[in-house]
Amino acid sequence: MRVSWEELYERIGACERCGLRRGCTQTVPGEGDIHARLMCIGEGPGAEEDRLGRPFVGASGQLLDKMLAAIDLHREQVYIANIVKCRPPQNRQPSPEEAEACLPYLRAQVALIRPRVILLLGATAARNTIGPEVRITRDRGRWVERKGVWMMPTYHPSALLRTPSLKRDAWTDLQAVREKLRELEQEGERIVHDEA
Ligand code: URA
Repeated sequence: MRVSWEELYERIGACERCGLRRGCTQTVPGEGDIHARLMCIGEGPGAEEDRLGRPFVGASGQLLDKMLAAIDLHREQVYIANIVKCRPPQNRQPSPEEAEACLPYLRAQVALIRPRVILLLGATAARNTIGPEVRITRDRGRWVERKGVWMMPTYHPSALLRTPSLKRDAWTDLQAVREKLRELEQEGERIVHDEA
């Protein structure tokens, strides 16, 4: 799907590719810096996101803000999106069919933003991007590179709220994200310098 941002948001707003739209208040396409080097991908909107039309604004969103602050980033400096753009009923996990139906929108977002790093929040985000074989406890913190984009799964903020002892690993992952962004920036500067 090669589209402009305007067209993409329009298509998401009018989407009826799966049954989720009928059960939600509004679509939650995503938000943030459309030139961001870091993109964060979650699972799908919860109650607060559904009410406000914005991603990660409930309890897990507040924790995500803190996670970003830990690596000196503010939510306006990254782009935040979800695998599905409509709230699944009772916050259940989106089915594989629902995720599949919604993925073209996420792919279009990634193509427009061209982030250098993608932080995958939780198993749903990781499995629908890296592959169904991902196990979050085993694979968190591991980099996967695809076409120059570095992706890393980590725990979803809601998992960290449920099990605070996981925070230590999540913080390690975030430090690695910060390091990768730095590395890529230096690499970019070197290329610009060499070409000058
Ligand atoms: N959880 C998600 O995965 N995404 C949101 O936008 C909010 C909570």
